[in-house]
Amino acid sequence: MPGSLSVATPNTAGVAIGAIILLGVPGAGKGTQARRIADRYRIPAISTGDMFREAIQADSALGRQVRQYLYSGELVPDDLVTAMVAARLERPDCRAGFILDGFPRTLPQTDWLYRYLDRAGRQPLPGPIVISLSVGYNELYRRLSGRRYCPVCHRNYNLFTQPPRQPGRCDLDGAELLQRKDDQPDVVRERLAAYERQTLPLLEAFRQRGKVFEVPGGEDVDHVSAGIFAILDGRRQGA
Ligand code: AP5
Ligand code: MG
Repeated sequence: MPGSLSVATPNTAGVAIGAIILLGVPGAGKGTQARRIADRYRIPAISTGDMFREAIQADSALGRQVRQYLYSGELVPDDLVTAMVAARLERPDCRAGFILDGFPRTLPQTDWLYRYLDRAGRQPLPGPIVISLSVGYNELYRRLSGRRYCPVCHRNYNLFTQPPRQPGRCDLDGAELLQRKDDQPDVVRERLAAYERQTLPLLEAFRQRGKVFEVPGGEDVDHVSAGIFAILDGRRQGA
């Protein structure tokens, strides 16, 4: 891993960390950071985008319902999203906490999540913590145009910032790397517009409900992780 800011993994066994919501424009680094948070705190990273892409790849009923939205860059209707998230959050690995990457993305999804977390009978967890990653638009276009992924292990690469050792091949399994369909420039434009229209207003809604931590996402991956870990370590210690 490049950089020098990596921090030793704490022993988090048995510590309830609660819901961690990662908010940010397409390409802000939500998925990249979600996987690192998951490794460090041993809680699952739940990416609604990844779940939809897996459904499309499997050609399931859900995949057929959502395909047109993902390929055009529009948001999937709220009821489909919340039903999928509800089923995922019921799984036992979410008991101590979970990371939400790309959810919620609309005000109705936000209301749904708070109602879900407040529901009687759930093990009490600390209230959700929101981490907002901000990155300039030029950097976003560079990141999204350079992104490649491995269809076998789903690891992400970037031609400019995190290239594979062998061009076009996954470091782990040698599979041919692919580009996401929604990383084409016209779809990226629609995704950014959807973010500004439907997701940006969430920042204010979250601020009214609790803590929002703004983390500059334009630094290298290790620096961004270190900023997030400092916030989350403070939370574990009750800060
Ligand atoms: P989703 O999959 O969530 O996509 P997104 O929000 O557009 O975000 P991305 O996954 O493109 O970016 P990211 O922030 O995860 O960045 P990453 O870490 O990959 O959603 C896709 C679609 O699904 C939506 O358009 C919608 O249709 C549907 N959908 C999903 N959730 C929904 C919901 N809740 N409601 C309705 N519809 C929903 O990084 C990007 C690149 O940059 C990578 O190549 C990475 O290697 C690189 N990189 C990351 N960090 C750094 C860094 N610090 N420095 C340099 N390079 C970096
Ligand atoms: Mg992502």
